[in-house]
Amino acid sequence: MLVLLAGIFVVHIATVVMLFVSTIANVWVVKNDGSSSQGLWKNCTNGSCDDLSYSGEDALKSVQAFMILSIIFSVLALVVFIFQLFTMEKGNRFFLSGATMLVCWLCVLIGVSIYTNRYAHPSGYHHGYSFILAWICFCFSFIIGVLYLVLRKK
Ligand SMILES: *[C@@H]1O[C@H](CO)[C@@H](O)[C@H](O)[C@H]1NC(C)=O
Repeated sequence: MLVLLAGIFVVHIATVVMLFVSTIANVWVVKNDGSSSQGLWKNCTNGSCDDLSYSGEDALKSVQAFMILSIIFSVLALVVFIFQLFTMEKGNRFFLSGATMLVCWLCVLIGVSIYTNRYAHPSGYHHGYSFILAWICFCFSFIIGVLYLVLRKK
């Protein structure tokens, strides 16, 4: 039980870090020859970064907003979990942590879906590690959220 909680805690922290890296790093798509990559904020070619040609689009702004919200909710869920770990009565479920983490999952779902739909497939490009991290976070945040809902405090 304690091992399980510790495991979830570690995976939760990893998810927060991955969400952060994924959102910050401008490596959502990479040109096949490796010379250029684009993310949520910048278009980087050979080490120098400019604005994206579609930087003003509402769809991109939504992706940025939902990824930032997902970071906020994943951190919030972690804080709530630590708080519940010390204050909640034994036998209760980590319902609030789980619910908060599922909100984070929803934000990742919406953000990454919009990106996948609109920007993830320019010709001559492949997916970068930010994009892959974001989908891994999508899976992890769901699993963590559900485990929090299921687990009881011992
Ligand atoms: C990124 O920059 C390169 C080189 O300046 C340009 O050819 C490309 O169209 C730009 N792509 C986007 C999405 O801004």
